[in-house]
Amino acid sequence: MATIRLGDTAPDFTADSSVGTLNLYDYLGDGWGILFSHPADFTPVCTTELGTASKFKDEFDKRNVKMLALSVDGASSHNEWIKDINETQDTQVNFPIIADEDRKVSDLYDMIHPKADNTLTVRSVYIIAPDKTIKLIITYPASTGRNFHELLRVIDSLQLTAYNKVATPANWEHGEDVVVIPSISTDEARQIFKKGVTEIKPYLRMTPDPTA
Ligand code: BEZ
Repeated sequence: MATIRLGDTAPDFTADSSVGTLNLYDYLGDGWGILFSHPADFTPVCTTELGTASKFKDEFDKRNVKMLALSVDGASSHNEWIKDINETQDTQVNFPIIADEDRKVSDLYDMIHPKADNTLTVRSVYIIAPDKTIKLIITYPASTGRNFHELLRVIDSLQLTAYNKVATPANWEHGEDVVVIPSISTDEARQIFKKGVTEIKPYLRMTPDPTA
């Protein structure tokens, strides 16, 4: 069983999917990626998640994030299930679902947590940066559907902090003030952040979102 941690290189794989054979790295190209697993086809929470994810695709596209789902059933089952998702969630599934019948990808990404369920994947989320490193891992139990607003919010934070010397405070959303990272001095921060820096404490310096 693999253990994947933040900063690791996302394992590449080639697998069958709802749209045919798919190679992860080719699919991602030089953009960002989100890989999220579902316990099984024809299950209620997963049906709502995939419908919601489809409706959020424009938002992921705006952020240059390729979407990729996974479930441990076969491609023909996925395609039957997609018809139900489209019908019941009033959408069109618009990204591939990996068909991981042999659990190859689930094992590679540690998506099966045997004490939760021996055979089905939990709800894992991996966000992969353009350099193919893993930037975020979140694990939800099968009984809790994911919040796709939160996934977009965290992508906004990851993309902002990848290119600017800032971090984002609790509940931050795009456009709100951000935190200056501890490794730069307040004087240095004042040179970098032309919109201004407020020093609340020597270790707590705020500046407006430099990208807003
Ligand atoms: C669901 O997707 O609805 C689900 C799957 C496995 C266990 C519980 C719920």
